Amino acid sequence: MKIKIINGPNLNLLGRRDNHIYGKETLRDIETWLYSKVNSKDSVKWFQSNHEGQIIDEIHACIDSYDGIIINPGAFTHYSYAIRDAIESTKIPTVEVHLSDIHNREDFRKISVIKDVCIEQIFGHGKTGYLNAAKILFAYESKKRNI
Ligand code: DQA
Repeated sequence: MKIKIINGPNLNLLGRRDNHIYGKETLRDIETWLYSKVNSKDSVKWFQSNHEGQIIDEIHACIDSYDGIIINPGAFTHYSYAIRDAIESTKIPTVEVHLSDIHNREDFRKISVIKDVCIEQIFGHGKTGYLNAAKILFAYESKKRNI
């Protein structure tokens, strides 16, 4: 199974950004940790961008080449209808991940405009959220293959 993991703006600053909310690990630390947890027969590719258009291009590039997407769109979560439409257009099963508990922070973070085009929203589990999202996609894919 091939999974693309897409990270949005400011996540490149993990490790120095709001440590009390996001922890001390860098995005590279989380990437390395995730690779160590995933079965080697599965391909997981990591991507980060601070630019909405690049994120949309990366989502489009998954068409016909990836079986699942894990996306942490950062603040774009709360207002990017363009990213929402891109996810919907691919028809690729997508899981939304947030390191922090977006439902127990500022009000604007409680809203996700991509939630309804994702098969699940994971929040508040730190880096484990990415692994849980991968497990959800593996289970989704194996169910599909057995139908
Ligand atoms: C985040 C939550 C967003 O509200 C915020 O803008 C981020 C990170 C998270 O992983 O908890 O950049 O997506």
